[in-house]
Amino acid sequence: MHQTQSTVWKIAELRSEVIGIDTKVPLLDGTERRYVFLDNAASTPTFKSVLKCVEEFLPWYSGVHRGMGLKAVVATNVYDETHRIAGEFVGADLVSNSVLFGKNTTESINKLAKRFNFSPNDVVICTVMEHHSNDLPWRKYAKVVHTAIRPDGGVDLDDLKRTLEIYKGRVKLVAVSGASNVTGICNPIHDIAEWAHSAGAKIFVDAAQLAPHRAIDILPNRAAKHIDFIAYSAHKIYAPFGIGVLVGPTEFFAKGEPDMVGGGTVSYVGTDDVEWGSLPQKEEAGSPNVVGAVALAEALTVLRTVGMEAIAGHERTLLEYAIPRMQKLPGVRIYGPTEDLTNKMGVIPFTVDGLDHALVATILSAEGGIGVRNGNFCAQPYMRKLLNVTPEEEKSRRAARCDNPILPGMVRVSFGCYTNEDDIDIFVDMLERIVKREYKGKYSVDPSTGMYMTDGYGVNAAKHFRFFNPAGASVAGEEVA
Ligand SMILES: Cc1ncc(COP(=O)(O)O)c(C=O)c1O
Repeated sequence: MHQTQSTVWKIAELRSEVIGIDTKVPLLDGTERRYVFLDNAASTPTFKSVLKCVEEFLPWYSGVHRGMGLKAVVATNVYDETHRIAGEFVGADLVSNSVLFGKNTTESINKLAKRFNFSPNDVVICTVMEHHSNDLPWRKYAKVVHTAIRPDGGVDLDDLKRTLEIYKGRVKLVAVSGASNVTGICNPIHDIAEWAHSAGAKIFVDAAQLAPHRAIDILPNRAAKHIDFIAYSAHKIYAPFGIGVLVGPTEFFAKGEPDMVGGGTVSYVGTDDVEWGSLPQKEEAGSPNVVGAVALAEALTVLRTVGMEAIAGHERTLLEYAIPRMQKLPGVRIYGPTEDLTNKMGVIPFTVDGLDHALVATILSAEGGIGVRNGNFCAQPYMRKLLNVTPEEEKSRRAARCDNPILPGMVRVSFGCYTNEDDIDIFVDMLERIVKREYKGKYSVDPSTGMYMTDGYGVNAAKHFRFFNPAGASVAGEEVA
């Protein structure tokens, strides 16, 4: 999937759309460097057009669905339109589906888990790959069965089919990630949907990672491969203004009580009885995040203009550039697929032999000005499988530091649609210095937290942001001692 010249041009243009792309940060040696951000799987930066759109909207900002004032009407129309854009982004038929806004993907999944009204005997099938946010909420209300993963990190689809067969009649839902935040593996969600439906179950897709990287089409509700429920977060799509999206059948949410009750959710309230309002208001208790919705809609519009296919192609090119270079470095182990990248998005998790993941991440930051993520990425069961942690080792680590276990982990680099080869060069060059033990700093670990301190270097946040100091000047204080 390689892009045409014109899409390359559009992708290249996105880089100048990113707020903070040229932010300089101090390094341990006293010099400054452009910050290289390779933690887009956690949260992306903001598009300039998103901020501009928010600024344009703010003079028209007003509470929605409650007023007759002109601004209230404008804001309400805009807010309704953002629902349409968020639904269409995943191909939802908006006659039969509702788009519900909340805080993020985690909140959306918690809402859905509560709204499912599971009976104690009901089963939800998850995979070992899942982010904790697509595992723990289901555990609150149903029996969760985790299906296995293959040695390469992919979901063991035969085990998934077997599990569906074993629990046939009891499985109400298959909850699976669209793409893993650890390995970047994209799951065959439409095939899984078909298997789930044949077993009489619904499917939920956690698209927190998929949505920023791939075109999504949940297909018409009657289709065998239709995705029943899907959720994603704006802060991973260049619009970090605190909003998350849940899409699902209107008839599902129209039934029963909303998970949260209060203002906005009702059409009638007596002292003893209540009639619930229409969707989406019924499921968006309280005053909603209108500004966040505007930001999200603008970011989705930018991505649709560029084209998700072009974004996927660009990421593929970056993976093909980065992986062989990392593989050449002795002691660097990459997890997940490295050869067939067809179903992998721009995420590379790795370890360096003999060096703690937290140390590698600390050196990348202090000496390279590179922001990555390290640890277990809120996917502890998956992490332990990928790292082959034995149950005995797991037990002993827990016992050793029961209050703050230093858990096995990895370092992760993750790309955004604006990442370029220069970012990868800077990262791989610094990684090479680490592998060759040519880094300069002295690092010591705090055994109670697993965090590393760098001699002579510490981040002084007040130096970079004015911390609400009305004079506008940043607070004095040196970064490098
Ligand atoms: C696969 C996956 N699911 C769910 C989440 C939770 O998303 P949020 O923090 O926006 O609720 C994340 C966040 O990293 C994720 O990567």
